[in-house]
Order: sequence, then C-alpha cells, then structure tokens
Amino acid sequence: MGKIRKIGVLTSGGDAPGMNAAIRAVTRTAIYNGLEVTGIRHGYQGLIDSNFIPLQASSVSDIIQRGGTILKTARCEEFRTPEGRRKAYNNLRSAQIDGVVVIGGDGSFTGARLFGEEFDLPFVGIPGTIDNDIYGTDYTIGYDTALNTVVQCVDKIRDTASAHNRMFFVEVMGAEAGFIALYSGIATGAEAILIPETKGEDRDLSKMIMNGNTRKKSSNIIIVAEGDEGGGAFAIAEKVKNQFKDYDIRVSVLGHLQRGGSPSAIDRVNASRLGHAAVEALLDDQKSVMVGLMNGEIVLVSFRRAVKLDKDVDHNLIDLARILSV
Ligand code: F6P
Repeated sequence: MGKIRKIGVLTSGGDAPGMNAAIRAVTRTAIYNGLEVTGIRHGYQGLIDSNFIPLQASSVSDIIQRGGTILKTARCEEFRTPEGRRKAYNNLRSAQIDGVVVIGGDGSFTGARLFGEEFDLPFVGIPGTIDNDIYGTDYTIGYDTALNTVVQCVDKIRDTASAHNRMFFVEVMGAEAGFIALYSGIATGAEAILIPETKGEDRDLSKMIMNGNTRKKSSNIIIVAEGDEGGGAFAIAEKVKNQFKDYDIRVSVLGHLQRGGSPSAIDRVNASRLGHAAVEALLDDQKSVMVGLMNGEIVLVSFRRAVKLDKDVDHNLIDLARILSV
C-alpha cells in the first residue's frame, strides 16, 4: 500500500444538497481500498479544534437522500491565518491522517491551496456549492437540486402573478454568479433575468423588462440574482415601479430554502462519482487539486486554477432568454 493509510473528510462553506452523498462515496471508497476514515466536523474549524469522529461504512448509511451535511459546515476565519493552518496540520499529524478531502467552494479551496504550499499533507477538493461558480468543472454538487427548487417556486409564483396581473421580482441566490438565475429564468419563461455577469453593460431596466414588446402580458416575472449590480430584488423593484404603474408589483426573496432539501438524482450520482474520484486522486499521490466533471468526464484541476479563474455563464443563453420571452 502507498503512503496514504488514513484520510479525513470535511464539508466547508455553504452547505449544498448532495454533500452527504459525497461524504458517503468518499468514506466507502476509502474503506473499499483498505483505508481508515475520519470525519472532521464543522469544516476547517474542526481541523483546528481536533473535532474528529471515526467513520465506518455504516456511519454513512441512510444519508444519500438527505440535504445538509452530517459533518456540519462552517466558514472559518482562523484557517485563513498561518497560525490556524499550523494548528490544523499538527492536529492532522497527531491523528495520523495522511490526506484530506474537502467538499466546498472557492473559499474552501483557497484555504486548502495555502495549506498545500505550507505543509506536505495532501488535500483534494470536491466542488460543492449551489452557485455552480467554480472554474474547471461544468458542475458543482447541489446546483441541480437548487435549480429545480427555484423552478418549482417560480412556477408557483407565476400562478398567482397571472391570477392578479402582477409583476414579480424574484430574488435567487448567487452572490457572485448568475447560474441559478439564468437557468431558472429560461426554465420558467421569465420576462427578464438580471445577473452579475452582465455588470457594467449599458442596460435600461424598463426596456429589458418590456423586452421591446408592447403586448401586455398577464404576468411578468423578473429573476434577479442576489449579486446583481442593481442591488437585489427590492431595490430594483423600487427603481422601476413608476414606469409600470399598470402592474401591481410584488417582490419574493427565495433565500435559504434554495440550499435545503433532498438532492436530485443528478446530484446524488455526480456526488458519488466525485467522492470516489477524490479518494482515487489521493491514492494516486495527487495534491492541491479539485476533482471536477467536464463533458461528463472526471477531470483534475489545480486549486490554483479553480480559485483564480472565473467561470462565466454562456452568454448565448442570455440572448436565448431574451428571444424566447417576447
Ligand atoms: O452557498 C453559496 C451561497 O448560496 C451564496 O449564493 C449566498 O450568497 C451565500 O451562500 C449565503 O450564505 P450564508 O447565508 O450561509 O452566508
């Protein structure tokens, strides 16, 4: 056997549906390969506090269908400091952990990248965030479920909007990315979609909302990503309300319900594949890489690239949404 005998696994940053499926896949792949597994609780904070629990194959039974994360998660300030990372390293060594799988987003991989520059103990990442905003992978765990949750909610809002001839501004998550907004907007036939990726473009909100169309629709849905430069759904509704006097305007902020719920089949399958691939990567002596999915295939992407480069939305889809909502 190689030098990896025992691995740790943790979830970090915002939780995402499918993280449990990934924990299960990591644990069972490791056990299948004769490794021991330690669960690290509360993300990087658990590394600093030695909040460790042993995981057996049975510890991850009955979790593939559950949202949230059985290991808990956190955003940890202390791990951003060299002292915090030193404590984490010492605790990992004391527990005889030879490698760590981190399930999280950009911030989590930034911490893992710095750790990898300072210490010789490999970290491998699995992209887990509903925002789908990680470079080097077409897909992040939780995005598919969150997108479907948003689509269900917007369909319901459409019913009541049509019944009252109302205009709704629906705010969805995506502090820095418009994937959920763009895809849910297309899937629900939204009249306009406002996303951070169009920042700085010359846009006339009222024109965008009307989309050059004089036909009076019985309802209007405008999807707003929370990170849009307009300042969120309430602020945007306030800005345009005088131009749409015929419409009764309402705002709905979907909030954290987008992060919960049972993961979709796609999220479960992809989390299972990525969890398996992460352990294989550690066994292959990889370090400071994320496992991702590109065109359906498993890929390895350095943390440096995953963190540094921005993943853009497909701008053809922005045009498509506009064409289809005339
Ligand atoms: O998980 C990513 C994300 O959903 C962002 O879109 C959002 O801004 C953020 O998490 C909010 O998370 P929290 O309320 O946990 O800080």
